[in-house]
Amino acid sequence: MNTQLLILDYGSQYTQLIARTVRELGVYCEIIPGNCSYEKVLASKAKALILSGGPSSVRTEGAPRPPKEIWTSGLPILGVCYGMQLMADELGGKVEGWMRSASGDQESKEQGIREFGPAEVNIKKNNGLFSKFHANENIDVWMSHGDKVTELPVGFITLATSSGSPVAAFQNTDKNFYGVQFHPEVHHTKRGKDILSQFLFGISKLEKDWDMKGFIKEAISNIQAQVPTGNVVCGLSGGVDSTVAAVLVHKAIGSRLHCIFVDNGLLREGEAKQVMEDMLALGLNVKLASSGERFLTELEGETDPEKKRKTIGRVFIDVFEDEAETITDVSHLVQGTLYPDVIESVSVIGNSVTIKSHHNVGGLKDIMKLSLIEPLRELFKDEVRLIGLELGISKHIINRQPFPGPGLAVRCLGEVREDRLKKLRTADLIVQQEIMKSGLNDTLWQAFAVLLPVQSVGVMGDGRTYEECIALRIVTSRDGMTADWYLLPEEILRRISTRIVNETKGINRVVLDISTKPPSTIEWE
Ligand code: XMP
Repeated sequence: MNTQLLILDYGSQYTQLIARTVRELGVYCEIIPGNCSYEKVLASKAKALILSGGPSSVRTEGAPRPPKEIWTSGLPILGVCYGMQLMADELGGKVEGWMRSASGDQESKEQGIREFGPAEVNIKKNNGLFSKFHANENIDVWMSHGDKVTELPVGFITLATSSGSPVAAFQNTDKNFYGVQFHPEVHHTKRGKDILSQFLFGISKLEKDWDMKGFIKEAISNIQAQVPTGNVVCGLSGGVDSTVAAVLVHKAIGSRLHCIFVDNGLLREGEAKQVMEDMLALGLNVKLASSGERFLTELEGETDPEKKRKTIGRVFIDVFEDEAETITDVSHLVQGTLYPDVIESVSVIGNSVTIKSHHNVGGLKDIMKLSLIEPLRELFKDEVRLIGLELGISKHIINRQPFPGPGLAVRCLGEVREDRLKKLRTADLIVQQEIMKSGLNDTLWQAFAVLLPVQSVGVMGDGRTYEECIALRIVTSRDGMTADWYLLPEEILRRISTRIVNETKGINRVVLDISTKPPSTIEWE
């Protein structure tokens, strides 16, 4: 795809949202680090730039900055929040705000107020960026800033103000430079899309070039050109990404695509059978590698979460390679890599530590010599879902909750044994059934049971019990990076709890996990 618009990223949590909104408006765009070289900007052939928000302050040394040449490139530029402050600072305006104290941990008010959350902006001029608005109109916006522009650079005018920002938006129409202190990409900003749309089409004269049908057509012909002959292998998990990737490649090269579905014995109740049925119904050439016993033998006695994950990853690779070796003339491997996995960002928090080693096909040994086909590399998750629907994949696959590669092993705390997995599967199925009945499935990111290696005393009939415990993990999330716990209606919680204790042998207690991510994670291991 040709990149019509580049987003220079300064580390805002909303940067990807800008990209998704721009794409929803029909323009293909990409994200690159905000302190990139000008050569990178030129190489993209972009016709407009957006500078994202970010946690830095232009008033601190070392704050990430764009290459100077962008200001004389003639490209239309929109700065959002920190991006607007950069524009003001680089072009001779003034940015003031909250100062960090010398100790770094306390903040003192130097000037004005900070704005976080909903705010109201008053439009002063209805031209340029705001030509679709009325002068003196108030609009609801989402703010998240400590610094603010207090003096305009030469040639700029104030477009809007808010109680906390004397310059809530500005522009220099001669140069085609625009800035907004608020976040038009956040849905709380009513008519945020109108503002972005005016920048894309009214100002930058970009063309609509991005829709799912066009993407599918282009992806198929690219894959055909990439693999004119020979065979391709793909590890299927039954999840959205690998399924959509496989169906796309299958459309391009038919039965030259060989899918391998590894049943690691750590799947949910009935899942292996369901996935095989779904994949065969999609016409995929898929082979089932039933290797539950191999995984369980290797996991025997292991209770350390990281060792469990590593063992499962290693055995997965062995099983997958054994299967792949039976296929001749293989040159390529399909992976369901998504755009968020490949975006490079300005490092704002330093090197991150490994919280959990994720298990995916990336660690393959011999098979890594194969070239990769990553048909979803340019896409966000919601775009993958749209493509999946366009390709005729059924809704129950598209809307399937994320399920971790290491499966129930990371929800079966302590030793992973068949008897304990059985308890977990029974309890988990009850959670699935009740959530489906409640109609809340689409609201939730994930809802599942966790088996805890904690025994407690209970009473059943007239007898004493001393049995293990199930925790319920029910969360909402946008992308899995952060999550909030979700409180199911009391009657559903009661039904789940009663059913689990009554129907699961060896469980006498159910507890509810009410932790957010961070500081907790979604999965327990
Ligand atoms: P955590 O537990 O890190 O999980 O908060 C975030 C999201 O990622 C899923 N998850 C995984 N997905 N392989 C995957 O493909 C893995 O090893 C893995 N571990 C966690 C988890 O279900 C949640 O949606």
